Amino acid sequence: MRRLKIKEILKNGKPGTATLIKGWVRTRRGSKNVHFIAMNDGSTINNLQVVADTTQFDEQLLREINTGAALAVEGTLTESKGSGQNVELLAERIELLGGADPEKYPIQPKKHTLEFLRENAHLRFRTNTFGAVFRLRHSMAYAIHHYFNEKGFYYLHTPIITASDAEGAGQMFRVTTLDAINPPLTEDKKPDYSRDFFGKATNLTVSGQLEGELGAMALGEIYTFGPTFRAENSNTARHLAEFWMIEPEMAFYDLKDNMDLAEDFLKYLIGYALDNCSDDLQFLASRLEQEEKNKPQDQRSMNLIEKLKFVQSSSFIRLTYTEAIEILKNSKPYKKNQFQFPVDWGIDLQSEHERYLVEKHFKCPVILTDYPRDIKAFYMKQNDDNKTVRAMDVLFPQIGEIIGGSQREENLEKLLSRMKEMDIPAEEMWWYLDTRRFGSAVHSGFGLGFERFILFITGMGNIRDVIAFPRTPKNAEF
Ligand code: 4AD
Ligand code: MG
Repeated sequence: MRRLKIKEILKNGKPGTATLIKGWVRTRRGSKNVHFIAMNDGSTINNLQVVADTTQFDEQLLREINTGAALAVEGTLTESKGSGQNVELLAERIELLGGADPEKYPIQPKKHTLEFLRENAHLRFRTNTFGAVFRLRHSMAYAIHHYFNEKGFYYLHTPIITASDAEGAGQMFRVTTLDAINPPLTEDKKPDYSRDFFGKATNLTVSGQLEGELGAMALGEIYTFGPTFRAENSNTARHLAEFWMIEPEMAFYDLKDNMDLAEDFLKYLIGYALDNCSDDLQFLASRLEQEEKNKPQDQRSMNLIEKLKFVQSSSFIRLTYTEAIEILKNSKPYKKNQFQFPVDWGIDLQSEHERYLVEKHFKCPVILTDYPRDIKAFYMKQNDDNKTVRAMDVLFPQIGEIIGGSQREENLEKLLSRMKEMDIPAEEMWWYLDTRRFGSAVHSGFGLGFERFILFITGMGNIRDVIAFPRTPKNAEF
């Protein structure tokens, strides 16, 4: 008999049909004569109820049908009386594929804390919450490829190992095969990377952008979607040392085109989730409500689905960094000294400032542009004021910065002089500069932090709970 997925059965299963399912026991309850087994196979948040007449089955087998056990169940679909579902499965044959000792299996049917589940990340997929999160994460990855494909963007695979350290000096993970204890040394007693695997010092990439620009300046519109690595020692709920980033890069786009694309893209993804992932979203929405029910009314967040619909239908507010600083300086928390970090023109905005603008002042997503050049990367297009660059950050409720991007400096002379000011060796970047030497043109791009976006879509509070196996300072378990 062909196995059916539970999702399919719950959607289209007809009473009277002979059916085979395979999955894991979530709960088992019942009386001496009849057992009700809630089965889940990962295809949906919903379980299929299996009804087993105990007289038909071996006692030893019945004893082993515990939470976490893997079963194959053959039987006939019958109309379901309870539980809001159309059908349940009347078991005729049950095969125990793999038992789960209830004394030892950590994921028992009770409420576990997210911290506990993080320590058991290898098994947390078996909970409703993580099932929903990872199904949504998959759907969003799929929707991202779909969106760009429809728009004529090409998926470009930029390298993971790179010798360029242009984006954020000192935050990179070194990749080396040199002996850790006795590396070959140069005359001035430093590791001799010319004798390393690649013949030079190499790192894990912090961004695919620079290589992405090379692609865009020929293919027109490209995007990358891959892992990136940052060795910053930030132990926050928004930072990972290994995270996934989506980086579109477009020839002939200026900053406005770039903002329009970012806004359209985010709204498309939200719409896709609302249209295609409603069971999981509904579950996550009620999870969040449950989680927050003890908070005072004014500290509770908006219902997850309401929030997604709200962002999908709102026009993102666009303003300059300079205007944002003015707003912050006139704000209540500033005047009452409630911000932890200072506010002054030239500072890098902290998440508390970003969230004030989005959640309190505008009550809507915000795109800030034209940041001070001294806090942004060398490649951003310089404005005529000699102080600011054509940067854009998209700020979201609860998240703060979700996207960072810019129009790129396409003028070779200006780019070279900026690199000189910032001590970036032009010789090593010859390949990047060649795009400005040959057929240069206005172009722009941005990076969406995938996990930050999944935080937003799922309403989860900690970035460690939206990537399967988080990598953070002092933590690389699993
Ligand atoms: O603002 P960032 O550093 O921009 C870049 O890397 C550019 N090269 C992008 C581009 O223009 N092509 O990072 C982009 C986004 C941030 O807005 C944030 O969402 C996410 O990546 N991000 C992180 N997510 C998780 N953990 C971290 N440590 C992150 N650092 C950045
Ligand atoms: Mg940024």
